[in-house]
Amino acid sequence: MKIKKAVIAAAGLGTRFLPITKAVPKPMLPVFDKPTIQYIMEEIKSAGIEKTAIIVSGDCPVIKNHFSEAKVLEENLKQTGKKDLYDIAMATRDFGEIEFIIQPTPNGLAGALLCAEDFIAGEPFALLLGDEIYANKDGDKSCLKKLIDEYEKTGVSQIAAMEVFGDDISKYGNFAVNEKSGYNAVYDIIEKPSLSDALSNLAAMGRYALSSEIFTFIKELFKTQTKGEVYLTDALKDMANSIGLYACPFNDARYDIGDKVGYIKANIEYSLKNEKVSSEIKEYLKELLETL
Ligand code: G1P
Repeated sequence: MKIKKAVIAAAGLGTRFLPITKAVPKPMLPVFDKPTIQYIMEEIKSAGIEKTAIIVSGDCPVIKNHFSEAKVLEENLKQTGKKDLYDIAMATRDFGEIEFIIQPTPNGLAGALLCAEDFIAGEPFALLLGDEIYANKDGDKSCLKKLIDEYEKTGVSQIAAMEVFGDDISKYGNFAVNEKSGYNAVYDIIEKPSLSDALSNLAAMGRYALSSEIFTFIKELFKTQTKGEVYLTDALKDMANSIGLYACPFNDARYDIGDKVGYIKANIEYSLKNEKVSSEIKEYLKELLETL
């Protein structure tokens, strides 16, 4: 079955980024000149998906406005003949259908995803965590497209996998795999282990291609876990042990926008990618380096 829908999990309260996230939703934090959520919508669009649900923690008018018509601005740019800027403004409205779904209680990533069950309606789908952005090299298949293609080829759910070193493993879902006809079949997975409990150095990254059976595993967990955060990782473990789950490596650069250092790195790198400002930024960075 083809993957035609995507879900962005963006309902975090942004506590790691206070005070800015008190009034500005985390998905709206800019990386160079675009909000994080726009990079994620671009990733979804370039993977050929036209229906997206964004899971948010409350009514988020700022995110909705970003992807909607801005009459006064658009008219102004049109009348003053600022075609480049008009195109930039209009591109924010070209991401197919977007549905906003509120996660009423902060009950973890599994709880957030469960809110999208009706939207998914039994189809396979892509899941993207809203605080990571991915950049593929020109000509390379993006991480998301790779996961989707592998899902469509095998019918087995896919999770993006990256090797990490040392204590970093305790920031991620961590899994153990068996090689099975050229694929990395996951047979165990734990959420954020200490280095001594780690199963391997393979970490789960925030991109997934999942069959809708994941909702059955999530609902099973909620039968016994009625309080606190329910991990998607636990549902993935049950999925791995019954219908299977593959870990899929990727080549994209990944930026962790939920982390202050990751956020700054992304801003520096994306500004260096921009033709208009890159040489000025390079000069500035060189000068700054001399003083450090
Ligand atoms: C989530 C997942 C974790 C995954 C990570 C990737 O954790 O629960 O399994 O490895 O994203 O960034 P979070 O960083 O949202 O706590």
